[in-house]
Amino acid sequence: MEKMIEATRRLVNELCSIDTPEDTRKHEIKHEINQLLDEMLSLEKQESESSEEAQVVTPFVVSVKNGGEIDYEKVKKQFGCKGIDESLIDRVERLTCRKAHVFLRRGFFYAHRDLDKILDRYEGGKKFYLYTGRGPSSESLHLGHLIPFLFTKYLQDAFKVPLVIQITDDEKCIFKNLKPEDTKKLGRENVKDIIACGFDVTKTFIFSNFDYVGGKFYENMVKAGTCVTRNKIDGTFGFTGEDPVAKYSFPAVQAVPSFSSSFPHLFEEDIPCLIPCAIDQDPYFRMTRDVAPRLGYSKPALIESKFLPALRASGKNGKMSASDANSAIYINDSAKDIKRKINSAVTGGQDTLEDQKKYGANLKEDIPFQYLSFFLEDDAELEHIRKEYGEGRMTTGEVKNRAAQVVTEVVEKHRKARAAVTEEMVNAFMAVRPLPSMFE
Ligand code: TRP
Repeated sequence: MEKMIEATRRLVNELCSIDTPEDTRKHEIKHEINQLLDEMLSLEKQESESSEEAQVVTPFVVSVKNGGEIDYEKVKKQFGCKGIDESLIDRVERLTCRKAHVFLRRGFFYAHRDLDKILDRYEGGKKFYLYTGRGPSSESLHLGHLIPFLFTKYLQDAFKVPLVIQITDDEKCIFKNLKPEDTKKLGRENVKDIIACGFDVTKTFIFSNFDYVGGKFYENMVKAGTCVTRNKIDGTFGFTGEDPVAKYSFPAVQAVPSFSSSFPHLFEEDIPCLIPCAIDQDPYFRMTRDVAPRLGYSKPALIESKFLPALRASGKNGKMSASDANSAIYINDSAKDIKRKINSAVTGGQDTLEDQKKYGANLKEDIPFQYLSFFLEDDAELEHIRKEYGEGRMTTGEVKNRAAQVVTEVVEKHRKARAAVTEEMVNAFMAVRPLPSMFE
């Protein structure tokens, strides 16, 4: 904050020393001051709001003090996103002529920016595209990693639109100290998992930053980077002067796939994109939406999810952690592993059978039930379980069994699809090529 105040003071001094009325630097300074003031205001708001509970959600840290759960409403408010309500979901269903994905109709994707505007465009026969990404930091993906891709696949099918997927093999070198050789290899392995989610090769372009950055994409990075000050990046991402400069250049890399001109082999005109992602990625796109109009580009729209809760207390408050192998379900887990892990999950059931019959389960705290609500497609069965388990006529054991079955099905379906993905398919998805029927 102090640094920002100092920077503002410097700018004001500079402004006062300009005496030619038409100096363009004046307008730049005005914009920079306004940016700084906005960022200071939002910092102050965040500080005052988070002081009671100290909840932090950034692309790099997700934590809640005192072992509490993430207050997603608060995150949404802090970030300035809108909620997704019934009427918006109805509208998606009407426009796409299909039932909304479970992740949408059960409130897992719960926040948005300008989704209504994307729907207006779609309704008016105008184009948009989808953009999402993955930072390859490990070979063994867990269920939480698949969620944005399963959802993106639904969006692609429902709206029949092109999709670009960014593999940030550079990001994981910068932020996780991995070697480029390793992240590139991991990236290719992760691409196989992504392809296994069922994307249409005639509508999907997957790219590695190390391979693709250049040309128009790089031009856009430079243009975007020119509009953002170091103070702004520090305020948005929490970097300090101690951080390596590569970190400062990365936000522009994640920002510019939001601009259609970064893909001259795909798009000829400026069209907006819709970004499905977890809410922790919002800071990147807040920044992107801020610079877009200055570059004459459309602002990206967003549809944002919560995190899949960890099975056990260690990560209950955050994302499924990759470090505690028992707190998450991995794509390579066997049916037996899954059963064991779900059996040891945190539940909201009562300690004794009598109490369970008397009081019923606390569903909000029950991880197996929550997993059912994310992965069991059948609304009627879920309702049945909600009622029976919540009112004590169903036992925790039964719910765990059903959850293990449903999750095993999802994982096995994925594993089968993954085994059928070849190196040639990876090359096909990653080739820089036009996609002639991408809107059909
Ligand atoms: N930073 C993301 C990660 O660590 C990867 C990513 C790049 C991404 N571009 C994106 C995620 C767009 C969502 C949307 O996984």
